[in-house]
Parts: sequence; C-alpha cells; structure tokens
Amino acid sequence: MATKDQTIIAFDLYGTLLSTESIAKELSTHFGKDKAANLAALWRRYQLEYTWRFNSMNQYEPFSSITRNSLSHALAEFGLSLDDDSIATLMKAYDSLSTFPDVSPALEALSKESSITAVVFSNGTQSMVSNSVKSSPDLGPHASVFKEMITVEEVKRFKPYPDVYTHLAEKMGKSKTKEAMGEMWLVSGNPFDIVGARSMGMQAAWVDRAGNGWTDGLVQGEIGRPTFIAKGLGEVVEGVKKHMKK
Ligand code: LAC
Repeated sequence: MATKDQTIIAFDLYGTLLSTESIAKELSTHFGKDKAANLAALWRRYQLEYTWRFNSMNQYEPFSSITRNSLSHALAEFGLSLDDDSIATLMKAYDSLSTFPDVSPALEALSKESSITAVVFSNGTQSMVSNSVKSSPDLGPHASVFKEMITVEEVKRFKPYPDVYTHLAEKMGKSKTKEAMGEMWLVSGNPFDIVGARSMGMQAAWVDRAGNGWTDGLVQGEIGRPTFIAKGLGEVVEGVKKHMKK
C-alpha cells in the first residue's frame, strides 16, 4: 500500500512495457516474416476484441484462454493452422515478450524515484503477468521497481470496465471518490485503456511511440484524451511531476 505522499503510477503491461508485436519473431519460425507480422497484429486485435465482447456479455474467461482462442481465430482467418505443440510453444513465448527499447532505461531511472509507487496493472492473469515480469530477460532485472502486480482476475472483467479501475484504487488503499481517483496515474500505450481510466477520473499518460498523435474519438472532450502524451516511457516521470506542480 502506498503512503499518502506517494504518487501512484500504474503501468499497463501488454502494448506498453511489452511489445505484443514481438511475438511475430516466434510466428516467423512457421510462416515467414511478413505473414508473421500481419498474423501478430490480427491476433492482438482479436485478443482485445474478445475482452470487450466478454465485457459486453457480462461474462469472463481468463486472459490466457482468450489469448489462445484469439490466436486460433487469427490463424483461421489467414487459412493457416498450427499443431498443439506449436501453439503451446507460442503461448510460452507470450510469457517472455520483448520490451520496447525505451523501457529498460526508464525503469532504471524510476528505481531511483522514492516518491513514486509503481505497479503493473493488466488484463493478464496473475500467473501470466508475474511470469512476464519476473522471468522475462528484459523485464526481470527491473521486477523490483514494481511494488505490486494488479490484475483483473479478481474483478472478472477487462479494461475498460469501470470496476477494473476502482479495483486498482482499492488495491492501492484509495477510495473510489473522484478526488482519490484523480490522484492516481495510468501509463499506457493503449488508447482504449487511457480513455477508460480518464472516464473514471484518473490521470493518464499515453505513450505514443509511433508519434502519430492522439486520434481516438470515442469520448469527446478532455475526458476522452490523455492528461499528457509521452513519446517514450522515459518522459513519463517528468511529465507526471510537471502536471502535479500545476
Ligand atoms: C493489458 C492490456 C491492455 O496489459 O493489454 O492490460
């Protein structure tokens, strides 16, 4: 639990610290480079789409099953298939995705920030997230930066379901009031996650590595936009500090 004068920063995992595109390397051992990249993108799309569909149906399946089933969907759409052993190997590889290049130096710098409580906050299952953070060659060395790994498993809903963000508040010893929610930060590369957190009153830094600018138009106005945009993870802490001085 964070003390009162600590700033809580919750880092999204897939698409923010870990590159879901990096699974293309494992896929390319089966299908060649271009097809693997397209397949990785479609797989990710269906993976997220499945989470939103389960939310809409008021149902839940763990992110591990969703990840496996959305892979089968993406393969089928490309007219491809893989045997069970290859699928098992791919699922194992999903637990050691590569980080984006800006992640290691940013986490190294973050480890020296005593006024910040950093946590991982993800759709993944507790086991996927903890394997990814602790055993990944890229993230493992920085695992101690994160005080907790908070997942949606207890809520049985996915981002951007409101209860997921209030679950984060509860885990961090905060109340669900607008004021308390507004003291917490989400850092995410996923626009849908940013809008979800902002809609619940949180502050949110969007990591725009591609530098394309904010284009998500789901919610109009301030709430539908990040508090600020960072070009890489290295800009996040300064941005948070600057905003808090305002
Ligand atoms: C996560 C999703 C957004 O890690 O990929 O929560």
